[in-house]
Amino acid sequence: MPDDNADRIAPIEQPVAVVTGATSGIGRWIALGLARAGYHVVLVGRDRVRAEAAQAWIAAQVPEAGSEVVIADLSLLAATRAIGAQIAARHPHIALLINNAGAFEAQPVTTAEGHDRVLAINLLAPFVLTRALLPALRAGAPSRIVNVGSSTSDHAHLDPDHLVLGKRWTMVRAYGQSKLALMMTTFALARRLQGSGVVANVVHPGLVATGLVRTGGIIGLAWRCMAPFALTEEQGADTPLHAALAPEFAAVSGAYLKNRRAVSPNRQARDPALVERIWAATERLAEAGGARCA
Ligand SMILES: NC(=O)c1ccc[n+]([C@@H]2O[C@H](COP(=O)([O-])OP(=O)(O)OC[C@H]3O[C@@H](n4cnc5c(N)ncnc54)[C@H](OP(=O)(O)O)[C@@H]3O)[C@@H](O)[C@H]2O)c1
Repeated sequence: MPDDNADRIAPIEQPVAVVTGATSGIGRWIALGLARAGYHVVLVGRDRVRAEAAQAWIAAQVPEAGSEVVIADLSLLAATRAIGAQIAARHPHIALLINNAGAFEAQPVTTAEGHDRVLAINLLAPFVLTRALLPALRAGAPSRIVNVGSSTSDHAHLDPDHLVLGKRWTMVRAYGQSKLALMMTTFALARRLQGSGVVANVVHPGLVATGLVRTGGIIGLAWRCMAPFALTEEQGADTPLHAALAPEFAAVSGAYLKNRRAVSPNRQARDPALVERIWAATERLAEAGGARCA
């Protein structure tokens, strides 16, 4: 267990919600929304200063809210597994897991564990963290898992035998494919959880003016030009919060939401056999260590 996360927490009375990427962008507003809704929020971030700033920002607006900070670099699966075990040990009943952390990176980077970093953060970390928290989510049922995907998945194409892009890596392809794979593993999980009281859905938050795109070039320019027309971070949290809290989604599982409504996903995500192959490929990558991204 990382020393960073060794602080002790008193027993919790409120329902527990875990939010990744809670230090900035949409995730910070999701965490605030859950605190306002009466949840004890576990804020997962990679930087303690930013995480404690987000915690203080929430406490200033919702003084009665309980929260705690957990630190991990989610591009590293061992660290992700470790905080999953730590959170589950502290909270045997979890009501909500929001896998929001995500990355859209300009260059392929291979992590110390040998994974493509975009794939690790956007797909493998949610897979590993969800798996670690599943007993607590089952014990906390009715409970919900919300994975923050992206409409870039609408136009992506996946080959289950080549989840790792290698020489075909481009910024847009790596991001879009990771989000399509996240969607498909969400649907596979929803099928596995049928009847358990745990639902799993994937949402597109909209085009939101956040710090997600940290690059120059044509993509950075396009992002900056779109910013005035984009949603605010607070607005971007609306659909994830709707999936997490709205009574009409309490029993909906395996859905793709945009603008608070279930919509039709990418054709590949509607193919149950292909969904299962993506699940198996993700499981192999998550369990076996990395394959070089380039
Ligand atoms: N903005 C959009 O238009 C848009 C559209 C579709 C989908 N999304 C999705 O929405 C989610 C939130 O993104 P955002 O737009 O709010 O962008 P953001 O402001 O960059 O937030 C991303 C969050 O993920 C965290 N994160 C990134 N890499 C991490 C790592 N290795 N370990 C731990 N945490 C990590 C970031 O932490 P730091 O605070 O430390 O950077 C940050 O809190 C992402 O999944 C993104 O793909 C966004």
